[in-house]
Amino acid sequence: MFEFLSERAQDILQRTFGAQVSDVQWVYADQKGFGDCSTSIALQLAKKLNRKPTEIAEKLAEKLRGSAGVERVEVAGAGYVNVWLTPAALLAELHVTEKACTPQPVRKEEGPVIIDYSQPNIAKPLGVHHILSTVIGQCLCNLHRHLGTAVVGWNYIGDWGTQFGKLATAWEKWGKGKPVEKHTLDELLELYVRFHAEAEKNPALEDEARAAFLKLEKGDRKLRSFWEGVVRATKASLGAIYERLHVHFDTDIGESFYEDKMQSILEEGKKKQVFVKGEEGALVVLFEEESKLPPFLVQKGDGATLYATRDLAQIRYRIDTFHPQAILYVVDVAQQLYFRQLFAAAKRLDWELPQLEHVVFGRMRFAEKAMSTRKGTALKLEHVLDEAVTRAKEVIAEHRDSIQTDDEVALAEMMGTGALVYGILSQNRRMDLVFDWKKVLALEGNSAPYLQYTHARARSVLRKAGAKDETLPKDTSSLTASERVLFSVLLGFPEVLQEACTHRMPHMLANYLYRLCQAFNAFYNVEPILKASKDLRSLRLSLTSLTATVLKTGAELLTLRVPERM
Ligand code: ARG
Repeated sequence: MFEFLSERAQDILQRTFGAQVSDVQWVYADQKGFGDCSTSIALQLAKKLNRKPTEIAEKLAEKLRGSAGVERVEVAGAGYVNVWLTPAALLAELHVTEKACTPQPVRKEEGPVIIDYSQPNIAKPLGVHHILSTVIGQCLCNLHRHLGTAVVGWNYIGDWGTQFGKLATAWEKWGKGKPVEKHTLDELLELYVRFHAEAEKNPALEDEARAAFLKLEKGDRKLRSFWEGVVRATKASLGAIYERLHVHFDTDIGESFYEDKMQSILEEGKKKQVFVKGEEGALVVLFEEESKLPPFLVQKGDGATLYATRDLAQIRYRIDTFHPQAILYVVDVAQQLYFRQLFAAAKRLDWELPQLEHVVFGRMRFAEKAMSTRKGTALKLEHVLDEAVTRAKEVIAEHRDSIQTDDEVALAEMMGTGALVYGILSQNRRMDLVFDWKKVLALEGNSAPYLQYTHARARSVLRKAGAKDETLPKDTSSLTASERVLFSVLLGFPEVLQEACTHRMPHMLANYLYRLCQAFNAFYNVEPILKASKDLRSLRLSLTSLTATVLKTGAELLTLRVPERM
Protein backbone atom coordinates (compact mmCIF):
# COMPACT_ATOMS: atom_id res chain seq x y z
CA MET A 1 0.00 0.00 0.00
CA PHE A 2 0.94 3.61 -0.56
CA GLU A 3 4.05 2.63 -2.46
CA PHE A 4 4.67 6.06 -3.88
CA LEU A 5 4.72 7.49 -0.35
CA SER A 6 7.19 4.89 0.84
CA GLU A 7 9.58 5.72 -1.97
CA ARG A 8 9.21 9.40 -1.34
CA ALA A 9 9.83 9.00 2.40
CA GLN A 10 12.87 6.79 1.84
CA ASP A 11 14.30 9.42 -0.45
CA ILE A 12 13.72 12.21 2.07
CA LEU A 13 15.24 10.27 4.96
CA GLN A 14 18.27 9.44 2.87
CA ARG A 15 18.86 13.02 1.77
CA THR A 16 18.14 14.69 5.08
CA PHE A 17 19.64 12.27 7.56
CA GLY A 18 21.71 9.97 5.41
CA ALA A 19 19.56 7.14 6.72
CA GLN A 20 19.29 3.98 4.62
CA VAL A 21 15.79 2.64 5.09
CA SER A 22 14.72 -0.15 2.84
CA ASP A 23 11.07 -0.10 3.72
CA VAL A 24 8.97 2.70 5.17
CA GLN A 25 5.67 1.21 6.25
CA TRP A 26 2.54 3.28 5.89
CA VAL A 27 -0.47 1.91 7.64
CA TYR A 28 -3.84 3.11 6.68
CA ALA A 29 -5.71 5.04 9.37
CA ASP A 30 -9.44 4.62 9.47
CA GLN A 31 -10.01 6.89 12.40
CA LYS A 32 -11.10 10.41 11.76
CA GLY A 33 -8.42 13.01 12.35
CA PHE A 34 -5.43 10.75 11.62
CA GLY A 35 -5.35 11.27 7.90
CA ASP A 36 -5.54 8.47 5.39
CA CYS A 37 -2.31 6.82 6.37
CA SER A 38 0.40 7.10 8.92
CA THR A 39 3.97 5.99 9.59
CA SER A 40 5.99 5.45 12.76
CA ILE A 41 9.34 5.45 10.96
CA ALA A 42 10.55 8.47 12.96
CA LEU A 43 10.12 6.54 16.21
CA GLN A 44 11.96 3.57 14.77
CA LEU A 45 14.90 5.64 13.56
CA ALA A 46 15.31 7.90 16.59
CA LYS A 47 17.86 5.76 18.41
CA LYS A 48 19.93 5.00 15.36
CA LEU A 49 20.08 8.64 14.30
CA ASN A 50 20.42 9.87 17.87
CA ARG A 51 17.70 12.47 17.40
CA LYS A 52 14.30 13.09 18.88
CA PRO A 53 11.51 11.25 17.04
CA THR A 54 9.51 14.45 16.73
CA GLU A 55 12.45 16.19 15.10
CA ILE A 56 12.74 13.48 12.46
CA ALA A 57 8.97 13.46 12.01
CA GLU A 58 8.79 17.23 11.57
CA LYS A 59 11.50 17.17 8.90
CA LEU A 60 9.83 14.32 7.08
CA ALA A 61 6.47 16.07 7.23
CA GLU A 62 7.90 19.31 5.96
CA LYS A 63 9.43 17.67 2.91
CA LEU A 64 6.38 15.54 2.19
CA ARG A 65 4.17 18.61 2.02
CA GLY A 66 3.62 19.57 -1.54
CA SER A 67 4.59 16.13 -2.87
CA ALA A 68 2.42 14.81 -5.64
CA GLY A 69 -0.64 13.09 -4.25
CA VAL A 70 -0.29 14.62 -0.81
CA GLU A 71 -2.93 17.05 0.42
CA ARG A 72 -1.99 17.59 4.04
CA VAL A 73 0.63 16.33 6.52
CA GLU A 74 0.67 16.48 10.29
CA VAL A 75 2.93 15.24 13.05
CA ALA A 76 1.05 13.64 15.92
CA GLY A 77 1.82 12.08 19.29
CA ALA A 78 5.36 10.96 19.99
CA GLY A 79 6.42 11.22 16.37
CA TYR A 80 3.84 9.79 14.00
CA VAL A 81 3.50 11.32 10.57
CA ASN A 82 -0.08 11.41 9.29
CA VAL A 83 -0.85 12.06 5.65
CA TRP A 84 -4.05 13.07 3.89
CA LEU A 85 -3.95 12.12 0.22
CA THR A 86 -5.43 13.98 -2.70
CA PRO A 87 -8.59 12.48 -4.21
CA ALA A 88 -6.62 11.43 -7.28
CA ALA A 89 -4.06 9.55 -5.18
CA LEU A 90 -6.82 7.87 -3.18
CA LEU A 91 -8.50 6.78 -6.38
CA ALA A 92 -5.29 5.25 -7.60
CA GLU A 93 -4.88 3.32 -4.35
CA LEU A 94 -8.36 1.86 -4.64
CA HIS A 95 -7.12 -0.44 -7.37
CA VAL A 96 -5.08 -2.25 -4.75
CA THR A 97 -8.30 -2.99 -2.89
CA GLU A 98 -10.01 -4.06 -6.07
CA LYS A 99 -7.20 -6.50 -6.76
CA ALA A 100 -7.38 -7.86 -3.24
CA CYS A 101 -10.88 -9.13 -4.00
CA THR A 102 -9.65 -11.82 -6.37
CA PRO A 103 -7.73 -14.81 -5.06
CA GLN A 104 -3.99 -14.70 -5.64
CA PRO A 105 -2.40 -17.48 -7.67
CA VAL A 106 -1.04 -20.18 -5.42
CA ARG A 107 2.65 -19.99 -4.58
CA LYS A 108 3.69 -23.49 -5.57
CA GLU A 109 7.30 -23.10 -4.52
CA GLU A 110 6.46 -23.15 -0.81
CA GLY A 111 4.95 -26.00 1.16
CA PRO A 112 1.29 -25.98 2.12
CA VAL A 113 -0.21 -24.99 5.42
CA ILE A 114 -2.08 -27.94 6.91
CA ILE A 115 -5.13 -26.87 8.84
CA ASP A 116 -6.49 -29.49 11.23
CA TYR A 117 -10.07 -28.54 12.12
CA SER A 118 -13.58 -29.72 12.97
CA GLN A 119 -12.23 -33.17 14.03
CA PRO A 120 -15.38 -34.68 15.57
CA ASN A 121 -15.29 -38.00 17.32
CA ILE A 122 -17.60 -40.01 15.17
CA ALA A 123 -20.51 -42.34 15.83
CA LYS A 124 -22.47 -39.48 17.30
CA PRO A 125 -24.10 -36.39 15.86
CA LEU A 126 -22.18 -33.12 15.81
CA GLY A 127 -22.70 -31.16 19.01
CA VAL A 128 -23.16 -27.41 18.86
CA HIS A 129 -19.64 -26.81 20.22
CA HIS A 130 -18.22 -28.46 17.08
CA ILE A 131 -19.16 -25.39 15.12
CA LEU A 132 -16.32 -23.39 16.66
CA SER A 133 -13.39 -25.36 15.28
CA THR A 134 -15.33 -26.01 12.08
CA VAL A 135 -15.94 -22.40 11.09
CA ILE A 136 -12.74 -20.91 12.51
CA GLY A 137 -10.77 -23.57 10.65
CA GLN A 138 -12.67 -23.09 7.41
CA CYS A 139 -12.20 -19.34 7.58
CA LEU A 140 -8.45 -19.81 8.04
CA CYS A 141 -8.36 -22.17 5.05
CA ASN A 142 -10.21 -19.60 2.96
CA LEU A 143 -7.95 -16.74 4.01
CA HIS A 144 -4.74 -18.64 3.29
CA ARG A 145 -5.96 -19.81 -0.10
CA HIS A 146 -7.19 -16.36 -1.03
CA LEU A 147 -3.76 -14.97 -0.27
CA GLY A 148 -2.01 -17.55 -2.41
CA THR A 149 -0.88 -20.10 0.18
CA ALA A 150 -1.46 -23.76 -0.62
CA VAL A 151 -3.69 -25.34 2.01
CA VAL A 152 -4.56 -28.85 3.08
CA GLY A 153 -7.83 -28.64 4.98
CA TRP A 154 -7.92 -31.68 7.23
CA ASN A 155 -10.85 -33.11 9.13
CA TYR A 156 -8.97 -35.37 11.54
CA ILE A 157 -11.92 -37.42 12.62
CA GLY A 158 -11.84 -39.39 15.85
CA ASP A 159 -12.63 -42.77 14.31
CA TRP A 160 -10.63 -44.98 16.64
CA GLY A 161 -10.42 -45.73 20.32
CA THR A 162 -12.03 -47.66 23.13
CA GLN A 163 -15.41 -46.04 22.50
CA PHE A 164 -15.82 -48.38 19.52
CA GLY A 165 -15.48 -51.36 21.83
CA LYS A 166 -18.26 -49.93 23.96
CA LEU A 167 -20.45 -49.20 20.98
CA ALA A 168 -19.92 -52.66 19.53
CA THR A 169 -20.83 -54.25 22.85
CA ALA A 170 -23.97 -52.14 23.15
CA TRP A 171 -24.95 -52.89 19.57
CA GLU A 172 -24.55 -56.64 20.13
CA LYS A 173 -26.71 -56.51 23.22
CA TRP A 174 -29.40 -53.96 22.44
CA GLY A 175 -29.15 -53.30 18.71
CA LYS A 176 -31.97 -55.80 18.03
CA GLY A 177 -30.00 -57.33 15.21
CA LYS A 178 -30.45 -54.24 13.04
CA PRO A 179 -27.49 -53.72 10.68
CA VAL A 180 -25.26 -50.80 11.74
CA GLU A 181 -25.84 -48.85 8.60
CA LYS A 182 -29.55 -48.80 9.25
CA HIS A 183 -28.92 -46.90 12.48
CA THR A 184 -29.20 -43.16 12.60
CA LEU A 185 -26.53 -41.29 14.50
CA ASP A 186 -29.06 -40.61 17.19
CA GLU A 187 -29.66 -44.31 17.63
CA LEU A 188 -25.94 -44.96 17.80
CA LEU A 189 -25.62 -42.22 20.38
CA GLU A 190 -28.45 -43.77 22.36
CA LEU A 191 -26.66 -47.12 22.37
CA TYR A 192 -23.53 -45.40 23.62
CA VAL A 193 -25.37 -43.54 26.35
CA ARG A 194 -27.12 -46.74 27.37
CA PHE A 195 -23.78 -48.50 27.62
CA HIS A 196 -22.58 -45.99 30.17
CA ALA A 197 -25.78 -46.18 32.18
CA GLU A 198 -25.69 -49.98 32.32
CA ALA A 199 -21.96 -50.14 32.97
CA GLU A 200 -22.48 -48.17 36.12
CA LYS A 201 -24.65 -50.94 37.46
CA ASN A 202 -22.61 -53.70 35.87
CA PRO A 203 -18.88 -52.88 35.66
CA ALA A 204 -18.18 -56.18 33.88
CA LEU A 205 -19.48 -54.50 30.73
CA GLU A 206 -16.34 -52.36 30.68
CA ASP A 207 -14.21 -55.49 30.45
CA GLU A 208 -16.36 -56.79 27.63
CA ALA A 209 -15.93 -53.50 25.79
CA ARG A 210 -12.17 -53.54 26.27
CA ALA A 211 -12.03 -57.07 24.91
CA ALA A 212 -14.13 -56.04 21.92
CA PHE A 213 -11.83 -53.15 21.11
CA LEU A 214 -8.81 -55.43 21.40
CA LYS A 215 -10.46 -57.79 18.91
CA LEU A 216 -11.16 -54.88 16.59
CA GLU A 217 -7.52 -53.82 16.82
CA LYS A 218 -6.43 -57.35 15.96
CA GLY A 219 -8.57 -57.20 12.83
CA ASP A 220 -11.57 -59.32 13.79
CA ARG A 221 -13.73 -59.54 10.64
CA LYS A 222 -17.12 -58.98 12.22
CA LEU A 223 -16.02 -56.08 14.40
CA ARG A 224 -14.13 -54.56 11.55
CA SER A 225 -17.19 -54.50 9.33
CA PHE A 226 -19.26 -53.11 12.21
CA TRP A 227 -16.71 -50.30 12.58
CA GLU A 228 -16.68 -49.61 8.83
CA GLY A 229 -20.46 -49.36 8.87
CA VAL A 230 -20.33 -46.81 11.69
CA VAL A 231 -17.73 -44.73 9.86
CA ARG A 232 -19.75 -44.73 6.64
CA ALA A 233 -23.00 -43.83 8.37
CA THR A 234 -21.37 -40.97 10.27
CA LYS A 235 -19.59 -39.48 7.28
CA ALA A 236 -22.78 -39.41 5.25
CA SER A 237 -24.66 -37.53 7.90
CA LEU A 238 -21.84 -35.10 8.65
CA GLY A 239 -21.66 -34.19 4.97
CA ALA A 240 -25.08 -32.56 4.99
CA ILE A 241 -24.21 -30.21 7.85
CA TYR A 242 -20.83 -29.28 6.41
CA GLU A 243 -22.60 -28.45 3.15
CA ARG A 244 -24.95 -26.08 4.94
CA LEU A 245 -22.00 -24.32 6.52
CA HIS A 246 -20.02 -24.11 3.25
CA VAL A 247 -17.30 -26.21 4.79
CA HIS A 248 -15.09 -28.39 2.62
CA PHE A 249 -12.11 -30.53 3.49
CA ASP A 250 -9.28 -31.85 1.37
CA THR A 251 -8.99 -34.97 3.46
CA ASP A 252 -10.67 -36.64 6.40
CA ILE A 253 -7.93 -39.08 7.30
CA GLY A 254 -8.76 -39.93 10.90
CA GLU A 255 -7.14 -41.50 13.90
CA SER A 256 -7.55 -45.10 12.68
CA PHE A 257 -5.19 -44.43 9.78
CA TYR A 258 -2.24 -44.28 12.16
CA GLU A 259 -2.80 -47.72 13.70
CA ASP A 260 0.10 -49.24 11.79
CA LYS A 261 2.28 -46.13 11.87
CA MET A 262 2.90 -45.88 15.60
CA GLN A 263 5.20 -48.82 16.22
CA SER A 264 8.06 -47.29 14.27
CA ILE A 265 7.65 -44.01 16.16
CA LEU A 266 7.74 -45.85 19.47
CA GLU A 267 10.90 -47.65 18.38
CA GLU A 268 12.53 -44.43 17.26
CA GLY A 269 11.65 -42.68 20.51
CA LYS A 270 13.05 -45.50 22.61
CA LYS A 271 16.23 -45.64 20.56
CA LYS A 272 16.76 -41.92 20.91
CA GLN A 273 16.01 -42.25 24.62
CA VAL A 274 13.26 -39.68 24.37
CA PHE A 275 10.62 -42.23 25.38
CA VAL A 276 11.59 -43.67 28.73
CA LYS A 277 10.04 -46.13 31.15
CA GLY A 278 7.55 -44.53 33.50
CA GLU A 279 5.27 -46.03 36.12
CA GLU A 280 4.11 -49.61 35.60
CA GLY A 281 5.94 -50.12 32.36
CA ALA A 282 4.42 -47.14 30.58
CA LEU A 283 6.45 -45.05 28.13
CA VAL A 284 6.68 -41.32 28.76
CA VAL A 285 8.55 -38.24 27.63
CA LEU A 286 10.10 -36.31 30.50
CA PHE A 287 10.75 -32.61 29.93
CA GLU A 288 13.35 -30.36 31.51
CA GLU A 289 12.42 -28.81 34.81
CA GLU A 290 12.22 -25.24 33.43
CA SER A 291 9.61 -26.16 30.84
CA LYS A 292 7.22 -26.96 33.71
CA LEU A 293 5.59 -29.55 31.45
CA PRO A 294 4.35 -32.72 33.13
CA PRO A 295 5.42 -36.10 31.71
CA PHE A 296 3.78 -36.98 28.40
CA LEU A 297 2.36 -40.50 28.15
CA VAL A 298 2.89 -42.18 24.76
CA GLN A 299 2.23 -45.82 25.61
CA LYS A 300 0.37 -47.42 28.48
CA GLY A 301 1.82 -50.21 30.60
CA ASP A 302 -0.32 -52.80 28.79
CA GLY A 303 1.11 -51.72 25.45
CA ALA A 304 -1.92 -49.71 24.36
CA THR A 305 -1.27 -46.57 22.33
CA LEU A 306 -3.00 -43.24 22.90
CA TYR A 307 -4.33 -40.10 21.27
CA ALA A 308 -0.83 -38.65 21.76
CA THR A 309 0.87 -41.56 20.01
CA ARG A 310 -1.37 -41.09 16.99
CA ASP A 311 -0.70 -37.36 16.92
CA LEU A 312 3.06 -38.00 16.88
CA ALA A 313 2.70 -40.53 14.07
CA GLN A 314 0.53 -38.04 12.28
CA ILE A 315 3.13 -35.25 12.46
CA ARG A 316 5.67 -37.65 10.95
CA TYR A 317 3.22 -38.65 8.20
CA ARG A 318 2.28 -35.08 7.40
CA ILE A 319 5.90 -34.02 7.11
CA ASP A 320 6.81 -36.95 4.87
CA THR A 321 3.77 -36.67 2.64
CA PHE A 322 3.11 -32.94 2.32
CA HIS A 323 6.31 -31.14 3.39
CA PRO A 324 4.18 -28.46 5.01
CA GLN A 325 5.48 -25.07 6.08
CA ALA A 326 3.10 -25.11 9.03
CA ILE A 327 0.48 -27.21 10.75
CA LEU A 328 -2.32 -25.36 12.53
CA TYR A 329 -4.43 -27.23 15.06
CA VAL A 330 -7.75 -25.49 15.55
CA VAL A 331 -8.75 -26.99 18.89
CA ASP A 332 -10.33 -25.63 22.04
CA VAL A 333 -8.49 -24.34 25.08
CA ALA A 334 -8.99 -27.58 27.01
CA GLN A 335 -6.15 -29.12 25.00
CA GLN A 336 -3.69 -26.29 25.48
CA LEU A 337 -1.34 -28.20 27.76
CA TYR A 338 -1.63 -31.28 25.58
CA PHE A 339 -0.45 -29.43 22.48
CA ARG A 340 2.45 -27.87 24.35
CA GLN A 341 3.56 -31.33 25.35
CA LEU A 342 2.99 -32.74 21.87
CA PHE A 343 5.07 -30.04 20.18
CA ALA A 344 7.81 -30.33 22.79
CA ALA A 345 7.87 -34.12 22.35
CA ALA A 346 8.16 -33.79 18.58
CA LYS A 347 11.05 -31.39 19.03
CA ARG A 348 12.78 -33.81 21.37
CA LEU A 349 12.60 -36.47 18.67
CA ASP A 350 14.84 -34.14 16.71
CA TRP A 351 12.61 -34.06 13.67
CA GLU A 352 12.92 -31.22 11.23
CA LEU A 353 9.62 -29.62 12.05
CA PRO A 354 7.36 -27.21 10.26
CA GLN A 355 5.85 -24.44 12.35
CA LEU A 356 3.46 -26.13 14.78
CA GLU A 357 0.73 -23.96 16.17
CA HIS A 358 -2.25 -24.53 18.38
CA VAL A 359 -4.92 -22.10 17.21
CA VAL A 360 -6.77 -21.98 20.47
CA PHE A 361 -10.34 -20.90 21.07
CA GLY A 362 -12.47 -20.42 24.16
CA ARG A 363 -15.76 -21.95 25.21
CA MET A 364 -19.20 -21.06 23.99
CA ARG A 365 -22.41 -20.72 25.91
CA PHE A 366 -25.83 -19.35 25.21
CA ALA A 367 -27.15 -16.28 26.93
CA GLU A 368 -30.51 -17.92 27.53
CA LYS A 369 -30.08 -21.66 27.53
CA ALA A 370 -27.87 -24.61 28.38
CA MET A 371 -25.43 -26.21 25.98
CA SER A 372 -26.66 -29.69 26.76
CA THR A 373 -30.00 -31.37 27.08
CA ARG A 374 -31.47 -32.53 30.35
CA LYS A 375 -30.22 -36.03 29.64
CA GLY A 376 -26.71 -34.59 29.60
CA THR A 377 -26.12 -35.07 25.90
CA ALA A 378 -24.77 -32.13 23.93
CA LEU A 379 -27.13 -29.82 22.10
CA LYS A 380 -27.07 -30.93 18.50
CA LEU A 381 -25.60 -28.59 15.93
CA GLU A 382 -28.26 -29.52 13.42
CA HIS A 383 -31.00 -28.42 15.80
CA VAL A 384 -29.25 -25.16 16.58
CA LEU A 385 -28.92 -24.46 12.85
CA ASP A 386 -32.62 -25.16 12.39
CA GLU A 387 -33.44 -22.88 15.28
CA ALA A 388 -31.31 -20.13 13.71
CA VAL A 389 -33.26 -20.43 10.47
CA THR A 390 -36.63 -20.40 12.26
CA ARG A 391 -35.61 -17.28 14.12
CA ALA A 392 -34.42 -15.67 10.89
CA LYS A 393 -37.86 -16.33 9.39
CA GLU A 394 -39.39 -14.45 12.29
CA VAL A 395 -37.09 -11.50 11.71
CA ILE A 396 -38.06 -11.46 8.03
CA ALA A 397 -41.75 -11.57 8.92
CA GLU A 398 -41.33 -8.71 11.39
CA HIS A 399 -39.69 -6.53 8.76
CA ARG A 400 -41.91 -7.43 5.84
CA ASP A 401 -42.14 -3.80 4.76
CA SER A 402 -38.39 -3.16 4.57
CA ILE A 403 -37.09 -6.59 3.53
CA GLN A 404 -37.67 -7.59 -0.05
CA THR A 405 -36.91 -11.03 -1.34
CA ASP A 406 -38.13 -13.36 -4.03
CA ASP A 407 -36.92 -16.43 -2.16
CA GLU A 408 -37.75 -16.27 1.50
CA VAL A 409 -36.64 -19.82 2.24
CA ALA A 410 -33.19 -19.25 0.81
CA LEU A 411 -32.87 -15.89 2.55
CA ALA A 412 -33.83 -17.34 5.93
CA GLU A 413 -31.29 -20.14 5.54
CA MET A 414 -28.59 -17.65 4.57
CA MET A 415 -29.49 -15.24 7.35
CA GLY A 416 -29.95 -17.85 10.07
CA THR A 417 -26.83 -19.90 9.47
CA GLY A 418 -24.92 -16.69 8.70
CA ALA A 419 -26.00 -15.14 11.99
CA LEU A 420 -24.82 -18.16 13.94
CA VAL A 421 -21.48 -18.33 12.16
CA TYR A 422 -20.86 -14.59 12.17
CA GLY A 423 -21.82 -14.42 15.84
CA ILE A 424 -18.87 -16.74 16.46
CA LEU A 425 -16.33 -15.38 14.00
CA SER A 426 -16.85 -11.74 14.96
CA GLN A 427 -15.58 -12.45 18.48
CA ASN A 428 -11.94 -12.74 19.46
CA ARG A 429 -11.51 -16.51 19.39
CA ARG A 430 -9.34 -16.53 22.51
CA MET A 431 -12.21 -15.31 24.65
CA ASP A 432 -15.12 -17.35 25.94
CA LEU A 433 -18.18 -16.63 23.88
CA VAL A 434 -21.62 -15.76 25.20
CA PHE A 435 -23.99 -16.34 22.35
CA ASP A 436 -27.03 -14.09 22.20
CA TRP A 437 -29.67 -14.78 19.53
CA LYS A 438 -31.08 -11.26 19.65
CA LYS A 439 -27.72 -9.70 19.02
CA VAL A 440 -26.63 -12.00 16.21
CA LEU A 441 -29.93 -11.68 14.36
CA ALA A 442 -30.30 -7.92 14.71
CA LEU A 443 -30.61 -5.98 11.48
CA GLU A 444 -28.54 -3.20 13.01
CA GLY A 445 -25.15 -3.68 14.61
CA ASN A 446 -22.24 -6.04 14.17
CA SER A 447 -24.24 -8.97 12.79
CA ALA A 448 -24.61 -11.08 9.65
CA PRO A 449 -28.04 -9.67 8.76
CA TYR A 450 -26.64 -6.13 8.86
CA LEU A 451 -23.80 -7.15 6.58
CA GLN A 452 -26.16 -8.97 4.25
CA TYR A 453 -28.59 -6.08 4.22
CA THR A 454 -25.86 -3.58 3.44
CA HIS A 455 -24.61 -5.70 0.58
CA ALA A 456 -28.12 -6.01 -0.86
CA ARG A 457 -28.59 -2.26 -0.51
CA ALA A 458 -25.42 -1.53 -2.47
CA ARG A 459 -26.37 -4.04 -5.15
CA SER A 460 -29.79 -2.48 -5.44
CA VAL A 461 -28.28 0.95 -6.13
CA LEU A 462 -26.12 -0.58 -8.82
CA ARG A 463 -29.08 -2.38 -10.39
CA LYS A 464 -31.06 0.84 -10.51
CA ALA A 465 -28.13 2.67 -12.08
CA GLY A 466 -27.93 -0.03 -14.70
CA ALA A 467 -24.22 0.22 -14.31
CA LYS A 468 -21.97 -2.68 -15.12
CA ASP A 469 -18.38 -2.55 -13.88
CA GLU A 470 -18.41 1.14 -13.26
CA THR A 471 -14.83 2.24 -13.85
CA LEU A 472 -13.21 4.61 -11.43
CA PRO A 473 -12.93 8.15 -12.71
CA LYS A 474 -9.37 9.40 -13.14
CA ASP A 475 -9.75 12.49 -11.07
CA THR A 476 -12.05 14.36 -8.81
CA SER A 477 -11.34 17.71 -7.26
CA SER A 478 -12.68 17.17 -3.77
CA LEU A 479 -14.27 14.62 -1.52
CA THR A 480 -17.07 15.03 0.98
CA ALA A 481 -16.50 13.90 4.54
CA SER A 482 -18.47 10.68 4.20
CA GLU A 483 -16.83 9.84 0.88
CA ARG A 484 -13.43 10.27 2.46
CA VAL A 485 -14.25 7.95 5.33
CA LEU A 486 -15.59 5.33 2.95
CA PHE A 487 -12.47 5.70 0.83
CA SER A 488 -10.09 5.17 3.65
CA VAL A 489 -11.99 2.19 5.03
CA LEU A 490 -11.97 0.61 1.57
CA LEU A 491 -8.24 1.19 1.39
CA GLY A 492 -7.71 -0.86 4.52
CA PHE A 493 -9.03 -4.13 3.08
CA PRO A 494 -5.79 -5.68 1.74
CA GLU A 495 -4.00 -5.08 5.01
CA VAL A 496 -6.86 -6.48 7.09
CA LEU A 497 -6.87 -9.71 5.07
CA GLN A 498 -3.18 -10.11 5.69
CA GLU A 499 -3.48 -9.38 9.40
CA ALA A 500 -6.46 -11.66 9.96
CA CYS A 501 -4.53 -14.44 8.23
CA THR A 502 -1.19 -14.01 9.98
CA HIS A 503 -2.76 -13.68 13.40
CA ARG A 504 -5.30 -16.42 12.60
CA MET A 505 -7.99 -14.02 13.78
CA PRO A 506 -11.23 -14.09 11.78
CA HIS A 507 -12.73 -11.37 13.99
CA MET A 508 -10.32 -8.83 12.54
CA LEU A 509 -11.94 -9.36 9.16
CA ALA A 510 -15.48 -9.42 10.59
CA ASN A 511 -14.96 -6.19 12.50
CA TYR A 512 -13.51 -4.58 9.41
CA LEU A 513 -16.58 -5.52 7.38
CA TYR A 514 -18.73 -3.98 10.08
CA ARG A 515 -16.78 -0.72 9.84
CA LEU A 516 -17.19 -0.81 6.08
CA CYS A 517 -20.95 -1.28 6.41
CA GLN A 518 -21.13 1.68 8.75
CA ALA A 519 -19.04 3.86 6.46
CA PHE A 520 -21.10 2.87 3.45
CA ASN A 521 -24.45 3.45 5.15
CA ALA A 522 -23.31 6.85 6.45
CA PHE A 523 -22.30 7.76 2.91
CA TYR A 524 -25.49 6.34 1.39
CA ASN A 525 -27.66 8.24 3.84
CA VAL A 526 -26.24 11.67 3.04
CA GLU A 527 -24.92 11.63 -0.52
CA PRO A 528 -27.24 11.37 -3.49
CA ILE A 529 -25.84 8.69 -5.78
CA LEU A 530 -28.17 8.19 -8.71
CA LYS A 531 -29.19 11.83 -8.86
CA ALA A 532 -25.69 13.28 -8.59
CA SER A 533 -24.02 15.12 -11.46
CA LYS A 534 -22.27 12.93 -14.02
CA ASP A 535 -18.75 12.88 -12.51
CA LEU A 536 -19.96 12.57 -8.96
CA ARG A 537 -22.40 9.87 -9.91
CA SER A 538 -19.66 7.88 -11.52
CA LEU A 539 -17.37 8.27 -8.51
CA ARG A 540 -20.12 7.32 -6.08
CA LEU A 541 -21.22 4.34 -8.12
CA SER A 542 -17.68 3.04 -8.19
CA LEU A 543 -17.42 3.42 -4.43
CA THR A 544 -20.72 1.56 -4.12
CA SER A 545 -19.62 -1.18 -6.46
CA LEU A 546 -16.30 -1.67 -4.71
CA THR A 547 -18.08 -1.74 -1.34
CA ALA A 548 -20.38 -4.49 -2.59
CA THR A 549 -17.44 -6.51 -3.92
CA VAL A 550 -15.43 -6.18 -0.72
CA LEU A 551 -18.43 -7.12 1.43
CA LYS A 552 -19.12 -10.20 -0.66
CA THR A 553 -15.49 -11.27 -0.79
CA GLY A 554 -15.05 -10.76 2.94
CA ALA A 555 -18.31 -12.47 3.85
CA GLU A 556 -17.44 -15.53 1.77
CA LEU A 557 -14.02 -15.74 3.37
CA LEU A 558 -15.92 -15.91 6.66
CA THR A 559 -17.94 -18.80 5.10
CA LEU A 560 -21.07 -16.63 4.82
CA ARG A 561 -23.21 -15.89 1.80
CA VAL A 562 -24.76 -12.52 0.92
CA PRO A 563 -27.97 -11.92 -1.04
CA GLU A 564 -28.40 -9.79 -4.16
CA ARG A 565 -31.72 -8.58 -2.83
CA MET A 566 -33.06 -8.32 0.65
N1 ARG B 1 -11.05 -35.41 18.01
C1 ARG B 1 -10.35 -34.68 19.00
C2 ARG B 1 -11.29 -34.31 20.15
O1 ARG B 1 -12.49 -34.29 19.94
C3 ARG B 1 -9.73 -33.40 18.47
C4 ARG B 1 -8.62 -33.63 17.47
C5 ARG B 1 -7.71 -32.45 17.33
N2 ARG B 1 -6.64 -32.66 16.40
C6 ARG B 1 -5.52 -33.32 16.67
N3 ARG B 1 -4.65 -33.51 15.71
N4 ARG B 1 -5.30 -33.78 17.87
O2 ARG B 1 -10.83 -34.03 21.24
